[in-house]
Amino acid sequence: MQAILLVGGFGTRLRPLTLTTPKQMLPVLHRPMIEHVVCALGAHGVDRVVLALGYHDEAFRAAYPDGRCAGVDLSWVVEPEPLDTAGAIRFAYTESGMESSEGTFLVANGDVITDLDVGEMLQLHRTSRAEATIHLIEVEDPSRYGVVVTDSDGRVGAFVEKPQPPAPSNWINAGTYLMEPSVIGRIDAGRRVSVEREIFPAVAEDRSLWALRRNTYWIDAGTPQTYLRAQLDLLDGLSSAGVSSAGVSSERVLSGVSSAGVSPAGVPAGVSPEASIDPAAVIERSVVMAGAVVGTDSVVRGSAVHAGAVIEPGAVVLDSVVGSGATVGRGARVTDGTLVGARFEVAPGVTLSGARVPGAA
Ligand code: GDD
Ligand code: MG
Repeated sequence: MQAILLVGGFGTRLRPLTLTTPKQMLPVLHRPMIEHVVCALGAHGVDRVVLALGYHDEAFRAAYPDGRCAGVDLSWVVEPEPLDTAGAIRFAYTESGMESSEGTFLVANGDVITDLDVGEMLQLHRTSRAEATIHLIEVEDPSRYGVVVTDSDGRVGAFVEKPQPPAPSNWINAGTYLMEPSVIGRIDAGRRVSVEREIFPAVAEDRSLWALRRNTYWIDAGTPQTYLRAQLDLLDGLSSAGVSSAGVSSERVLSGVSSAGVSPAGVPAGVSPEASIDPAAVIERSVVMAGAVVGTDSVVRGSAVHAGAVIEPGAVVLDSVVGSGATVGRGARVTDGTLVGARFEVAPGVTLSGARVPGAA
């Protein structure tokens, strides 16, 4: 099975972290987000992934120069300008040579980490003779997603992207699709086309869009809250997706890194042995990456401290993300979903709550 992974968005909801690093290259539990996604796809029979690149494409190309990622063959295409989700699918399909193989292919949003059983979805796709099949998840607040109404047998009656409340259903598009090549023919070349706003509603109208409703582990790691939660979920072992537990050898992928279930003695789970932690620092349920320094009497709780970041003595980091090479000064408090951009310096003694620093330019 071949897959197209959509990873060309701007990641605006995760700014300023995404100003320097594209969303799917941000670290999730020590590895770029994309590796968890590719690894999970690989575990379900995907052997080739085409990255649909745009924003900061060079970051992906530099990270996987030999065209392998988590044991899967990787290739890529770069859009000359953002073509939106369907435009990107069409561009990747035609530019990567997938056209010649003709079969059913998979498409996934690059920020979705899930335990979805692709084989089960493929079975539904085949038996229903669907043109496209999508995975659905049930959520409490569907307003920020694609909302989907199905018949009892799984045929999609309506697909509405980010509807005004009240939403017609709590089942939402979970961002993994199986498609027949005929879907490509529905997408205009050379312009922005949204798969959610144009293509899925049209396929549904033709009664050939189907959906698999499965409340497996699932997260869209594209917001500050979910980016943090995805890491803590993997740390807690809530998902079998991802690099830490998908059967990938610990020497090969997790070299020297502790994560759920693989914790060298004396290092709290989630803390890299290549981080430097003062014995009088308190670290609870957090990810602290290689080269980070956590000083004496500081507290890091429910947070992610990226590679090379420095938490100075007496500083407190709660439910927040400190970007790579950033500094939280002595006695500063960084709390409530604050995002500190790469290399930014939070001055000593400052309190930040739900902030993004540096702010939008
Ligand atoms: N190549 C390319 N070009 N990729 C793009 C483009 C583009 O122009 N625009 C967005 N992407 C990529 C993003 O990088 C991301 O991986 C994926 O497409 C989805 O975009 P998001 O920006 O993350 O969308 P969303 O989270 O608001 O909504 C989508 O995901 C939800 C589930 O997580 C939609 O598919 C919703 O329907 C869905 O419910
Ligand atoms: Mg998203």
